[in-house]
Amino acid sequence: MHLSIAVVASLAVITPTFALPAFSGSQLKSAADAVPGESSLFVNYQGKKTPLASNYTKVSPATGSGPAGADDLLFQNLLSAEWVIYSFYQRAVEYFSASDFTKLGFPNNTYERIVEIRDNEAGHVRIFQDQISKNSITPGPCTYTYGFNQLAKPNSTKEFLALQVLLEVSSMAFLTGLANQADLNISKSALMAIGQVESRHNTWSLIDVYNVSPFLRPLGYRLPLRKPDPGSDQHNLPRFTFNPKTTTARPGSTLEFVFQAKPTFAADKDYWAVFYHDLNQVSVPYDPKKNVATIPKEFDSKVGVIMVNIADEKDAPTEDSVVAGPLIILEQPGSLTLLLD
Ligand SMILES: *[C@@H]1O[C@H](CO)[C@@H](O)[C@H](O)[C@H]1NC(C)=O
Ligand SMILES: *[C@@H]1O[C@H](CO)[C@@H](O)[C@H](O)[C@H]1NC(C)=O
Ligand SMILES: *[C@@H]1O[C@H](CO)[C@@H](O)[C@H](O)[C@H]1NC(C)=O
Ligand SMILES: *[C@@H]1O[C@H](CO)[C@@H](O)[C@H](O)[C@H]1NC(C)=O
Repeated sequence: MHLSIAVVASLAVITPTFALPAFSGSQLKSAADAVPGESSLFVNYQGKKTPLASNYTKVSPATGSGPAGADDLLFQNLLSAEWVIYSFYQRAVEYFSASDFTKLGFPNNTYERIVEIRDNEAGHVRIFQDQISKNSITPGPCTYTYGFNQLAKPNSTKEFLALQVLLEVSSMAFLTGLANQADLNISKSALMAIGQVESRHNTWSLIDVYNVSPFLRPLGYRLPLRKPDPGSDQHNLPRFTFNPKTTTARPGSTLEFVFQAKPTFAADKDYWAVFYHDLNQVSVPYDPKKNVATIPKEFDSKVGVIMVNIADEKDAPTEDSVVAGPLIILEQPGSLTLLLD
């Protein structure tokens, strides 16, 4: 029903679609020279093997010692997040086959589409890598654990499909929010272009997998991310989740917050749960003794994300006013059931 997400984001490129056959092993060897926007490896290659050449699947140390590029840090963060997403799809491509989806009644091109999304995400890895200057390190992937791998089929298949929506919605929201942090105008348009591709991945799933309306509210997804305030030391705020047994996690329902490590709340201070939904921001009083807050009922229930922070000032006007969070809640289509708790 919910997940608290660290950072997920990814990038996009608009590429023409060619009806090319799957690449053979010898063609894959030329992947080292493949460029997103030119190579069909990042569009409709159907192999189980990664479309990424081996020299692009690891960390690349800085080779220069001059000043970092203006948006190096932004793209390092995005690349780290993109590794999570690309690897999620790559693992699915290796783990599933077309019949896993048709057995559950999904369209017979479901696996093919997932492979194509993997290709796009690999292209995003390459685009982010190329945006980082030679004076900065280019992050490589880590070892990731995804919930779907720990279940047996067909539960893992359904879990994967639900997580897929979660990742795409989160990507779109993060990319839009992160545009505020880009210094270069070209970085802003790159983030927008990539968000559009993630939106297509999500649209495909809503139509073909979940058979629901793919349309959104007018504003789509956005997370209120901004550059850290200078001098602020708010990097490791206490995180929290909510008790899924006591709520529908829909607008109007009450959330019971669960802390791993509860922050210290001063007895003589007022606290607020600050909810964000696209451009909307609503603060509701928060009682640290009860740990409950109600999701504003004026938010709509379309697929999307709602974010909540706990702050010691109404509307959390500064980063330092935030005492815990963020919690990101995915609003799902009615027919979509996440097996996660
Ligand atoms: C990867 O290999 C290709 C082909 O040899 C080369 O053009 C490219 O610069 C290499 N990239 C990195 C990051 O090592
Ligand atoms: C895939 O599904 C479509 C639409 O239901 C159908 O027309 C087509 O024959 C199917 N293809 C295969 C290979 O089963
Ligand atoms: C799939 O999940 C259901 C519901 O949690 C459970 O009852 C069932 O045993 C699971 N199936 C497998 C094969 O693990
Ligand atoms: C970005 O675009 C704005 C509006 O056109 C312009 O004022 C600004 O100088 C540009 N910034 C950079 C870094 O090019």
